[in-house]
Amino acid sequence: MSFSLPAHAVLKGPNFIREVFERGAGIPGFISFGIGNPAPEAIPVKDIQAAFDAVVHDKPMELLQYGPMMGDDHLREQTLQRLLTKRHMPKEGQALLLSIGAGQDLGLVPRTVCQAGDEVYMDAYTFTSAINAVRNVGAVPVSIAMDQDGMIPEDLEKAAQSGKGKYIYLIPNFQNPTGITMSLERRQAIYEIASEYDLFIYEDDPYGEIRFTADEVPTFKSFDKENRVLYAGSYSKTLSAGLRVGFLYGPAEVIGAIQVLKNNCDGQMPLVTQRVVSHLLDTIDYDKQIAKVARVYQEKWKVMKDTYDQYGSSKVTFTNPTGGMFVWMTMPDGVDSKAFFEDCMQHKVGIVPGAAFATDGSLTSQSFRLSYTFPDLESIRTGMEVVAKLTRAYC
Ligand SMILES: Cc1ncc(COP(=O)(O)O)c(C=O)c1O
Repeated sequence: MSFSLPAHAVLKGPNFIREVFERGAGIPGFISFGIGNPAPEAIPVKDIQAAFDAVVHDKPMELLQYGPMMGDDHLREQTLQRLLTKRHMPKEGQALLLSIGAGQDLGLVPRTVCQAGDEVYMDAYTFTSAINAVRNVGAVPVSIAMDQDGMIPEDLEKAAQSGKGKYIYLIPNFQNPTGITMSLERRQAIYEIASEYDLFIYEDDPYGEIRFTADEVPTFKSFDKENRVLYAGSYSKTLSAGLRVGFLYGPAEVIGAIQVLKNNCDGQMPLVTQRVVSHLLDTIDYDKQIAKVARVYQEKWKVMKDTYDQYGSSKVTFTNPTGGMFVWMTMPDGVDSKAFFEDCMQHKVGIVPGAAFATDGSLTSQSFRLSYTFPDLESIRTGMEVVAKLTRAYC
């Protein structure tokens, strides 16, 4: 039979991230700065193996039944305590739902809070799945201009004047794809606009604890006096992405509705993986584990940057990530960025064209996202030398 799928279910335009992945997979010796996978050496494999062993032998019959709708009780409590004590979030009026990574929340939130035609305000360049999830419900992703500090409040306010806004989607820490961290002043200004136009803030923070410096900018949720922030977090980048455990924390009424939708889609989360995470939090030094992840990423970013500085054109600009997994590289106007991308691919190095992340769907960009976490140090040196030398041929 031939299916006639509704427009919102059909991806528009090319999928650049998949293209880099698929083309690279067929090239021997290909070095990819395209995939946003955590570093293998930062995953505590032995601890995770021991945790699986422990949880399958401890109360197996409990584990092999359906679990609680909101997620494993002990893991919810551990997660909540961390949000309250380490991230200084409010407790009153809030609820916490465990989810299949922060990725699942990207779909659940717009499906719960948006109607067709509602506007969602997003950074001009942001996480592709977040943009697509908004489109999938017939809501409208609205591109808001950014500078080196993230979303520009004045531009947000202009857009919000339409009166059609539902929420603002932000990755305030070490943003994907740009690596930018939003300053506290910027966060406060955006919160004020949200308040004035009665918008939710969807704060997506899977990288927030992976910091290269001691400076921590308070989360939106930590100063959420009006209970309008939905905060998403994840154990993917600090423990293991394969476990697929994340969470959503926010207004109890909204979380309750999201939980019902989640239950209709996929039922309860597997208890096995939730208990593995929970066991790890009880038995390892989690802060030390996060510090290790940050150390590994910081070293990799440094190697990438030093290699570029040695061989690359000074006309290309880079953001300066102080945590997380990504950096944003921008070629001067007039440079043929498509040809540059193809040249990198021909030289067996994958970078992701910025258009992959464009909220307005534009197909060209002078920027590229590079992830420094997955390749080993030697591959980063080799791959970045190639990219850097090629920039000199272009500008
Ligand atoms: C901004 C952002 N949100 C959410 C996710 C999903 O993470 P996970 O589902 O692994 O927790 C990612 C992963 O790359 C991301 O970059």
